[in-house]
Amino acid sequence: MPSIARTYDFMLGGGHNFAVDRAVGEQIEHAMPGLRDAARVNRAFLGRAVRFMTARGIRQFLDIGSGIPTVANVHEVAQEQDPECRVVYVDRDPVAVAHSELILAGNDRAAIVQADMRDPEKILESPQVRGLLELEKPVGLLMLLMLHWVPDESGPLDLVGRYGSALAPGSFLALTHVTGDHQGENLEEATDVIKESRSPDQVTLRTHSQVAELFAGFEIVEPGLVGCGEWRPSGPADISAAAEMNMLVYAGIGRKS
Ligand SMILES: C[S@@+](CC[C@H](N)C(=O)[O-])C[C@H]1O[C@@H](n2cnc3c(N)ncnc32)[C@H](O)[C@@H]1O
Repeated sequence: MPSIARTYDFMLGGGHNFAVDRAVGEQIEHAMPGLRDAARVNRAFLGRAVRFMTARGIRQFLDIGSGIPTVANVHEVAQEQDPECRVVYVDRDPVAVAHSELILAGNDRAAIVQADMRDPEKILESPQVRGLLELEKPVGLLMLLMLHWVPDESGPLDLVGRYGSALAPGSFLALTHVTGDHQGENLEEATDVIKESRSPDQVTLRTHSQVAELFAGFEIVEPGLVGCGEWRPSGPADISAAAEMNMLVYAGIGRKS
């Protein structure tokens, strides 16, 4: 069966994927040309988000739904700012976990937990989180291209709240989420490909106000919840030449007061 992590790896140009993942990725890209660029723009936001947080004193990160490691992972960006930064990754995909373990071998300030994000307590009590993160100090929580895989019936708002309530004031939440607000039939065709694939994971598109609600308990910083390519881009590499690919994914950062 195709997996989200491996299909996304294919979309980003990575090599950790199988024919079944590439077939879904190609069909999605065919339905919505340029989608790969939206994935790249999301990945560029990851770097800006981590740098934004380290510039505000954050030295520990929890990256939920971290995926198969590709260049410029959270620990690389953060530890480049300060080698003391500590990072815990979480993914439930065995391939993502295996590759993360390989990449992190020898780095005693980063680790991965294999878990379903819908079990915050298990994650927060894992030996990796207990060993690397001090939850009484602010944490940078990342949930990038992750919550649209969590359907409404799994209570995404409550889930984000359970993570948020475990974090100290001054913590940040960085979130990106696919939206249909600015897209037409193409996106419907792309989500139909996923529906028709045998993947157990399905996309829940959310509107601007639905994504903004996920920041409950966090105050969204400037420029607000905006298209990923509009969130403080620092150069051409942060945006897509296709305007709609800057807007397919909402991005925002909130601060817990
Ligand atoms: C599209 S990738 C995003 C990777 C990375 N966060 C980024 O933005 O570049 C989504 C990841 O979320 C993971 N994922 C999806 N649902 C999950 C869940 N319920 N628990 C843990 N991980 C999950 C998938 O395995 C996949 O690796």
